Amino acid sequence: MRITFFAAKNYDKESFNHIKQQYPALELEYWETELSVKTAGYVTDSEAICAFVSADVSAPVLEVLAGRGVKLVLMRCAGFNNVDLEAATRYGIKVMRVPGYSPEAVAEHAITLAMAVNRHIHKAYIRVRENNFSLQGLSGFNFYKKTAGIIGTGKIGAAMARICDGFGMNVIAYDTYHNPDLPFVTYVELDELFAQSDLISLHCPLMDSTYHMINLETISKMKDGVILINTSRGGLVKTDDLITGIRERKFAGVGLDVYEEETANVFENHEDDIMMSSTTARLLSFPNVIVTSHQGFFTEEALAAISRTTLDNAQAYLDNVASGTELN
Ligand code: NAI
Repeated sequence: MRITFFAAKNYDKESFNHIKQQYPALELEYWETELSVKTAGYVTDSEAICAFVSADVSAPVLEVLAGRGVKLVLMRCAGFNNVDLEAATRYGIKVMRVPGYSPEAVAEHAITLAMAVNRHIHKAYIRVRENNFSLQGLSGFNFYKKTAGIIGTGKIGAAMARICDGFGMNVIAYDTYHNPDLPFVTYVELDELFAQSDLISLHCPLMDSTYHMINLETISKMKDGVILINTSRGGLVKTDDLITGIRERKFAGVGLDVYEEETANVFENHEDDIMMSSTTARLLSFPNVIVTSHQGFFTEEALAAISRTTLDNAQAYLDNVASGTELN
């Protein structure tokens, strides 16, 4: 079975090529182009396509893919909020993904953002390179004995909770489901989490019920001088309200690995130039905000796990087709 990869980067090719000999039934074809209605129409002789988290896997794209004979969409990521699952079912396309490939990778990035923004590492780095050894404005606060509020204690939130516990923080959390593997965590209502936390880290999925959960009203419930970290999904935060909060000096720091409007269209590729959206540019104008480019997942271990599970998914699909059984 041939799999056409969309938005394939060099690091994707390296990690998939590293193991592809172990899957003789699979042929991998890498395309740099993003998935769209137009590019979907170029797929030929591929029963499967492989896409990344920001890909547009909407109904119109799925319709074109179905017309090109595609039966399987392999998401090489955990999130699938850009995939129209109903349309996929309608067009007889199976969607498979890689859940929980390395929760620690994302949690470690979340704490990296929190520590960097708290201790102003981004400013210190630039200053010292310019031979300026002044400490003016670089003071932070100890995490030890402060309160970390984790919203969503699934795989990544649990890893983040363990890290914060290791720092000697008081760890509180809000989740609709209470994770029994986190005996050191106290579950509280969301308002209480906002009121008590010195560090708030978002780890719940983007759904109708969580869309814009960080907004003017919820920001007003937070402590002054709080640090807010979002490595989950941009839509959890209403950006304009966040900017208002930052302007009103609510936050000691904000660390964002994900942002609203984060789709393939936000970063318009003009050859090698990456153009930033104006909203992201506005966020970057604040000295106490650190933005990274959705790199939470980006570790050697995570890439290896993603390529392994994606090809295992493709093989399982083939095996099931061969045996005539239906995959769940
Ligand atoms: P998970 O499914 O293991 O955990 C999500 C948790 O959120 C569950 O415990 C669930 O009960 C909880 N939840 C659901 N609704 C909630 C609500 N309204 N309020 C609070 N909690 C709620 O997911 P996992 O693997 O921990 O991933 C979390 C998120 O991280 C994903 O949804 C994805 O958006 C993001 N992610 C980011 C990456 C990055 O590179 N920055 C990479 C991978 C995932």
